[in-house]
Amino acid sequence: MAKKDTIFFCQSCGNESGKWLGQCPGCREWNTFVEEKVVKGKNTSARSNNAALVNSGKPTALSEVAIENEERVKTRIEELDRVLGGGLVPGSLILVGGDPGIGKSTLLLQVCQRLTNEVKDVLYISGEESLRQIKIRADRVGQFAESLKILCETNLSIIEEIMRKTKPHIVVIDSIQTMYCEDVTSAPGSVSQVRESTALLLQLAKGLGITIFIVGHVTKEGTVAGPRVLEHMVDTVLYFEGDRHAAYRILRGVKNRFGSTNEIGVFEMQSIGLVEVPNPSEYMLSGKPQGASGSVVACLMEGTRPILIEIQALVYQSNFGMPRRQATGTDFNRVNLLMAVLEKRLGLQMASCDAYVNLAGGLKIAEPALDLGIVMAIASSFKNRVVDDKIIVFGEVGLSGEVRSVSMPALRVKEAAKLGFTTCILPEVCIKACGDEMKDLKGMKLIGVKSVRDAIDLI
Ligand code: TYD
Ligand code: MG
Repeated sequence: MAKKDTIFFCQSCGNESGKWLGQCPGCREWNTFVEEKVVKGKNTSARSNNAALVNSGKPTALSEVAIENEERVKTRIEELDRVLGGGLVPGSLILVGGDPGIGKSTLLLQVCQRLTNEVKDVLYISGEESLRQIKIRADRVGQFAESLKILCETNLSIIEEIMRKTKPHIVVIDSIQTMYCEDVTSAPGSVSQVRESTALLLQLAKGLGITIFIVGHVTKEGTVAGPRVLEHMVDTVLYFEGDRHAAYRILRGVKNRFGSTNEIGVFEMQSIGLVEVPNPSEYMLSGKPQGASGSVVACLMEGTRPILIEIQALVYQSNFGMPRRQATGTDFNRVNLLMAVLEKRLGLQMASCDAYVNLAGGLKIAEPALDLGIVMAIASSFKNRVVDDKIIVFGEVGLSGEVRSVSMPALRVKEAAKLGFTTCILPEVCIKACGDEMKDLKGMKLIGVKSVRDAIDLI
């Protein structure tokens, strides 16, 4: 019998199989197997085994492990440094994922710009754009120092050779889907190519102490294309997200071996590239209508950072038998649930009403602390009563209409005070829990509520 020359890979966990399977036996995901040409040539699996990380083969006492170079390199882009947990760790591998055109190449070019000003040798390798295209982009972004070198190359053996010879401090690979290893016969962008290429880059990063940024394309489902293994292999995974039509972009850490993952960085795309947004609340609230019903300002937490956001609701008598419900930026089912609470606990007759809820600014948030804000926005639109412009709201709503506590209330209230809000409607338990912390906030009136009814009575 002729030997099969194709093999099937699970795109989620990298599991291999001789035949196609509906469900992966490794990770139990459905419909993840893709066919690929078999890997020929020398045995490359040693590379996948992280050979660079293996030391002499004998156990070492933890106290004897010397840490050199533990100092972090600041990129001088504050929003990025925060997401990275305080700067770049030498020898780390950072994956930057995001939709096409979101600004990954622009961000990394700007990182290169800042780092070259810090007298670091930086190598920017592009497999997608020509030298001319990069130059045109660089001219928009600003002045670049001599120490930035550009290379248009997709063959990783050549890249490896150059990296070993020139030993730059920082390398950018744009993008991993265009790179290929000669040992692997399948096309660039395929599961085995992406896996092998990343393994090689990992080896180079750890072996030479080079920090490598890898750009990864994102699939329809929103994960980095290629195997999930990619995310397991690298030290840090950052996602660049945001509406391509809106100007702002959010950089979110989803994995970080050197810091917390719940920090975000906010940027705005301008004609000179990405500009940091140090105060996102102000940015999110710009353009908020005055004296309109159905508009409520709520406070959410992104990591340790409070962000104020406007919740808009529009509720009106439906023209059809089947009312329409829609939620933009927040969970549709959650909105339905909160409307059910309003109907049952407060007797608001909304069964024949169309209802639309929108988080202004295009953010996508699933934090329960927004519940009270959503409920108030819906009630405000339904009753056509305006919620005062100086009120801010947060709290989780339970099924019996109770308002439950949320995390870090003091930080939220302080952020609101900073932006000139004078009244805060929050869960009563939160006032008891950290009343002391909030005492020094003069001019901020705290109204504790126990149930949705208390909150709605205020408007
Ligand atoms: P890019 O970094 O090429 O995206 P990615 O690498 O993630 O695919 O970003 C391209 C978009 O950014 C493009 O639509 C134009 C826009 N842009 C600006 O608005 N201003 C600028 O200064 C630059 C460089 C790009
Ligand atoms: Mg790009």
